[in-house]
Amino acid sequence: MEVTDAINTWRSIRKYKSQPIPDETLRKILEAGRRAPSWENVQPWHFIVIEDADIKEKLSRLASGQKQVKQAPVVIGVCGDLSAWDKPKNREALMELVQSGVINVPEEVIDNVFLKDPVFCVAENGPAIILSRTFEQLGIAYAFMAIEAVNQGLGMCIVGAFANEITQAQKKLYQEIKTTLGIPEKMYLLCLLTIGVPDEEPKSRPRKLFDTVVSRGKVGHKF
Ligand SMILES: Cc1cc2nc3c(=O)[nH]c(=O)nc-3n(C[C@H](O)[C@H](O)[C@H](O)COP(=O)(O)O)c2cc1C
Repeated sequence: MEVTDAINTWRSIRKYKSQPIPDETLRKILEAGRRAPSWENVQPWHFIVIEDADIKEKLSRLASGQKQVKQAPVVIGVCGDLSAWDKPKNREALMELVQSGVINVPEEVIDNVFLKDPVFCVAENGPAIILSRTFEQLGIAYAFMAIEAVNQGLGMCIVGAFANEITQAQKKLYQEIKTTLGIPEKMYLLCLLTIGVPDEEPKSRPRKLFDTVVSRGKVGHKF
């Protein structure tokens, strides 16, 4: 399928056939997430393939009972790895950018400028910005996965509305799920991708008009 067709075909799919998804198809979707670009290539993510009915039922409860979460044959738990922004790890990522010639500065500039500058070093900005930058990177990863899911003939729903560190709701159940899934302290479960063979054909949902969201040169000037 052409990428443009996959994008235009996208609809959130919330009903699935019980048919399992072959591992090689799932792997292509997961690879699409792994291949996504990220800030200084820090890749602050981890993807957990969840197929266990009991865990999916609990995740659905965390998501205010959203049915697609327990009905989907596969849920990918998208975790934000906040430790990826820690300075030693950020340094490793920056050094790889230097080694590959993406940025051309000596090592001491990485240590004395980049890792102390809030523009380049996300950790310098504190927890709120670390979290928002993590979401920014995850969004790109699950957009890539969404397009690959369509390309594989599958349906997906991105589920962001559930209890976790952000909402601070259902703390006990969330902690239980984190422990069961082996998610460490500095990793947050931030998004669920429910995936399966579509069992519905929803109409395309409306989008703001092109000229409302696009300008050329100045806001309000048509492209
Ligand atoms: C970050 C994010 C979180 C979302 N969370 C949910 C959710 O919790 N439950 C749900 O049913 N849909 C969720 N959606 C799907 C949106 O409601 C949907 O994309 C939007 O209504 C447009 O419809 P479409 O995807 O069919 O084009 C989410 C989408 C995004 C991008």
